[in-house]
Amino acid sequence: MSTPTMDPAAKVLADPTAYADDDRLHTALTHLRANNPVAWVDNPPYRPFWAITKHADIMAVERANELFISEPRPLLSTAAADDMAKEQLEAGMGLRTLIHMDDPHHRKVRQIGADWSQPKVMRDLKVRVDELAKRYVDKMADIGPECDFVTDVAVDFPLYVIMSLLGLPESDFGRMHALTQEMFGGDDDEYKRDSGSLEDQLAVLLDFFTYFSKLTASRREQPTGDLASTIANGKVDGEPLSDVDTASYYVIVASAGHDTTKDAISGGMRALIDNPAEMARLREDPNLMPTAVEEMVRWSTPVKEFMRTATADTTLRGVDIAEGDSVYLAYVSGNRDEEVFTDPFRFDVSRDPNKHVAFGYGVHFCLGAALARMELNSLFTELIPRLEFIELAGAPELSATTFVGGLKHLPIRYSLR
Ligand code: HEM
Repeated sequence: MSTPTMDPAAKVLADPTAYADDDRLHTALTHLRANNPVAWVDNPPYRPFWAITKHADIMAVERANELFISEPRPLLSTAAADDMAKEQLEAGMGLRTLIHMDDPHHRKVRQIGADWSQPKVMRDLKVRVDELAKRYVDKMADIGPECDFVTDVAVDFPLYVIMSLLGLPESDFGRMHALTQEMFGGDDDEYKRDSGSLEDQLAVLLDFFTYFSKLTASRREQPTGDLASTIANGKVDGEPLSDVDTASYYVIVASAGHDTTKDAISGGMRALIDNPAEMARLREDPNLMPTAVEEMVRWSTPVKEFMRTATADTTLRGVDIAEGDSVYLAYVSGNRDEEVFTDPFRFDVSRDPNKHVAFGYGVHFCLGAALARMELNSLFTELIPRLEFIELAGAPELSATTFVGGLKHLPIRYSLR
């Protein structure tokens, strides 16, 4: 097959700085949806891939989970980072989380964590989440009339929730916070460790592993009824999880459960400030909170992409995709698809239906979606009625990323009851 030509607009998907510039990103994505919905992207240092920008195609790829699999390239990273990850795995020391796995192994490993997202566990957890939500809104009241909503509220609240769920001691929260930022913010100068080189990224991974290996040993010796104990003692086909799979499980819960929710909370706060009429509607009718939360998640789309690789030659929207080619699921684009969402660039707290793909779709559908929704619901239910006034106190700043990201600063001025 001859090399496909590249639509210059598609480059944004392999450029971390594009995600820090909403206008540039959405101009390119709107163009791609209309003109080149299955677009070839070849932008070193990344290996080439097909960018899938239509909502229906993202769902079709995720649904066809035998034709499009997660191995060996579940997400976009540079060719050098892909190679290093492969070498580490071959050496028995690498990251292999649920998102790296395919069925049937994936289904069995997922089952271990699936129980804690059941309604009963969520109901029990709500008490703690509500308590933490109040703690952080009280903190806002104490430190007002100005704060950076991201660093003062949105970062710590979900971190505390996820660490509480795992059962980690509060004294370790700060360290976990730094590690998750270094791990997910690898493209942003403010977050990356030292120079952000591959060696530095490996050091971050090693720190995670060392921490969680100790945790596994202690929870196997003495289970304490928390999620860490469930993971440490989880079995697949009657056998305990391998060390790599166990450590990777913690890593995905600790990391996936934190930055993502922080980005949805701060993105939601900004959307309410930018759309005061929507904020007023929500204040007047708290019953709108569930649809408002869903809209905040669609609006912010904290997880920008995941990837799949074709196991056979196929076609998508008439474009030939060869066995071994990777496809990039552009969730940000799917969530602004004009064919699915009426007036997609309008933030609407009562949007219904709202079939966004911010939590993915299919067998990998986010395991923490119920928890994330609960966290947003608790925080805004506590905050909105107490908020007498709020405005921006400076320019909001987005992080550079190709994977998980959102606001890194949201300076606000406010008064709270
Ligand atoms: C607003 C917040 C969140 C967003 C936007 C989000 C988004 C996502 C997305 C897009 C996926 C991949 C789905 C796919 O490939 O189809 C995913 C998977 C996952 N998420 Fe979340 N997530 C959020 C919060 C959380 C939380 C709070 C947790 C943990 C408590 C969590 C744990 C996971 C896990 C374990 C997976 C892997 C599931 C699998 O591969 O089977 N996420 N999430």
